Amino acid sequence: MKEVNIILFGVGNVGNTLISQLLENKDKWKKKKGLSVKIPVIANSQRAIFNPEGIDQDWKEKLKTSSEVYDLEDIIKFSKENKLENIIAVDATASKDIVLEYPKLVRSGFHLVAANKVANTLSDEFYTELRKELEVHKKHFYYETNVGAGLPIVQTVQGLHQAGEKVTKIRGVFSGSLSFIFNSFSDSDSDFSEVLKKAGELGYTEPDAREDLSGNDVGRKLLILARELQLKKEFKEVKIQSLIPEQLNGKTSVEEFNERISELNEIFEKQKKNQKKDHVLRYVGELKVGSGSLEAKLISAPRESALGQIEGADNIFEIYTKSYGNHPLVIQGAGAGAAVTARGVVSDVLKLSQRLNK
Ligand SMILES: NC(=O)c1ccc[n+]([C@@H]2O[C@H](COP(=O)([O-])OP(=O)(O)OC[C@H]3O[C@@H](n4cnc5c(N)ncnc54)[C@H](OP(=O)(O)O)[C@@H]3O)[C@@H](O)[C@H]2O)c1
Repeated sequence: MKEVNIILFGVGNVGNTLISQLLENKDKWKKKKGLSVKIPVIANSQRAIFNPEGIDQDWKEKLKTSSEVYDLEDIIKFSKENKLENIIAVDATASKDIVLEYPKLVRSGFHLVAANKVANTLSDEFYTELRKELEVHKKHFYYETNVGAGLPIVQTVQGLHQAGEKVTKIRGVFSGSLSFIFNSFSDSDSDFSEVLKKAGELGYTEPDAREDLSGNDVGRKLLILARELQLKKEFKEVKIQSLIPEQLNGKTSVEEFNERISELNEIFEKQKKNQKKDHVLRYVGELKVGSGSLEAKLISAPRESALGQIEGADNIFEIYTKSYGNHPLVIQGAGAGAAVTARGVVSDVLKLSQRLNK
């Protein structure tokens, strides 16, 4: 029996669902794959619970009542003392603090799986250093859910690139929240502010919707894909069109922003009206390999085009390569949500496990 030990950071939407998926499937993996997956440590920003045999269904109650304030050294020490093998640190937080500890985790013998995008969007220097550490210590790092949640985007781009296929352009709708907002707004007579409110109610946007409207998340995903193609880029080089009008930017509180969202209506109504016939608004990311340009922007696309036809909160990725010519490889589907994201993390854990010898 091969044993894999998961140290989980973050038990929010994704982490919580991930634990359920792992616990639901562990007996099946034992029987069918000869793989025993345990979760000996789970941690949020305050507390952790430790059990060398792995946590069980009652973990929530235990974490709530745990008084175990921890730091990373405690986790590393616990792993050594209990001789845990094949340790995978799974990062289901959005924290930079944890990411800055990745090199130390790798040096301490941990593999990495991250839903957190931060490690791949800090400086090129950090990105390169982390990969050097991974190589020196023969450790693996999987992060498929960084782009397109559960959709196989990172692995497809990596696979094409490694096989020697020349990827020329990647374009698409990379944000579930902006997808929902513009798909709904284009197809209804509702005001932009009503659509934005609905997106919030359905849990598509962050509590401060400006995080979505800033376009930064799309910019980060562009950067991650560019780096997969060995383009040396920094986040500040991504050209990002923010959809937040200047008067509602930065200085206004979330509450004030929410009270004043009707100020967005005229801006977007005008853009909707100024389009050619049978066109719809879409917020897209576009990466052109030849010129090295990375751009996130609002465009008007023909309704009949692949971009124009997407619905709900779907993502779509068009991958143009030399061999595919003008007919890109297209990957489309839910690009956000706890269930699909956690499933993507599980898939990374299983792929990583397959590469471990014992
Ligand atoms: N949700 C999606 O559809 C989706 C899709 C793709 C990728 N992702 C990525 O997945 C990650 C998690 O998303 P989420 O929606 O699950 O977030 P979330 O619900 O906000 O949960 C974040 C979790 O991280 C914990 N945390 C924060 N700082 C920490 C630290 N320093 N050490 C340990 N734990 C810490 C939080 O603990 P406290 O409660 O104690 O603060 C919380 O349990 C994010 O990076 C997100 O970008 C999400």
